[in-house]
Amino acid sequence: MTAPAAGRWCVLGAGRGSAELVDLLGDVVVGAAAGPSADVVALDDQHPKGPKDVAGAPVVGTLAAAVVEAQRGRALLSGIANSRTKGVRLVIVDKLAGLGLPPSAWGTFVHPAARISPRATVGRGAIVYPGVQVAVDARVEEHALLYFNAVVHHDAVVGRGSILCAGVLLAGHVQVGEGAYLGIGAVVKDGVTVGANALVGMGAVVTKDVPEGAVVKGVPART
Ligand SMILES: CC(C)(COP(=O)(O)OP(=O)(O)OC[C@H]1O[C@@H](n2cnc3c(N)ncnc32)[C@H](O)[C@@H]1OP(=O)(O)O)[C@@H](O)C(=O)NCCC(=O)NCCS
Repeated sequence: MTAPAAGRWCVLGAGRGSAELVDLLGDVVVGAAAGPSADVVALDDQHPKGPKDVAGAPVVGTLAAAVVEAQRGRALLSGIANSRTKGVRLVIVDKLAGLGLPPSAWGTFVHPAARISPRATVGRGAIVYPGVQVAVDARVEEHALLYFNAVVHHDAVVGRGSILCAGVLLAGHVQVGEGAYLGIGAVVKDGVTVGANALVGMGAVVTKDVPEGAVVKGVPART
């Protein structure tokens, strides 16, 4: 497998989250004279019955075609996200690994209007929207998805495949477990752990650890 070429993407999913992602990819300029790099195709399991395009990117196959698109030098990004299926992003990653997709096929997308500390890390397959801030010594793990204006303070960990919706605020040393979902505007107190596959409702103020798989909401957040 060749390394994915810069600016050539394959987005998984034809939902509205994928449409947002395709739209953001159009903001990225590769090379001084290259102009917008929006060379994007999309995959969706409804194909050929589903949508023909996602925000202008043609849908060219089902998710199983990801292996072929990766061999063609496209970097894969998953636009798939929902709060109903626990760890949905990792479910897709595992499915594609089972079809032979190597981890190196996944791209990483950090929008140029995000600010990532040079001492923070962002893992492969992660997607970082505009306005996101990731502070010193924070860690965004593989396949995490950070929507508009999410803030990750110092030393916090955004677990593998977890989703931070728009405006989520993680204070310092917060730990978000694998596959967790934090709804729009949720706020998490410093040092608190949100367990793997937990679901935090929009607007919640999380002051205590959230057990694995729990659903919490409100101010302060409760089950
Ligand atoms: C918390 C959540 C998971 C609950 O979903 P649900 O089980 O379908 O809940 P319902 O909509 O049936 O509401 C159940 C009750 O909880 C209340 N409720 C729902 N979400 C709430 C929230 N975030 N905070 C406080 N109360 C909430 C409802 O008003 C309702 O109260 P009632 O029984 O007194 O009428 C969901 O509302 C949520 O916040 N999801 C995240 C949404 C989001 O951020 N989307 C971003 C997309 S990019």
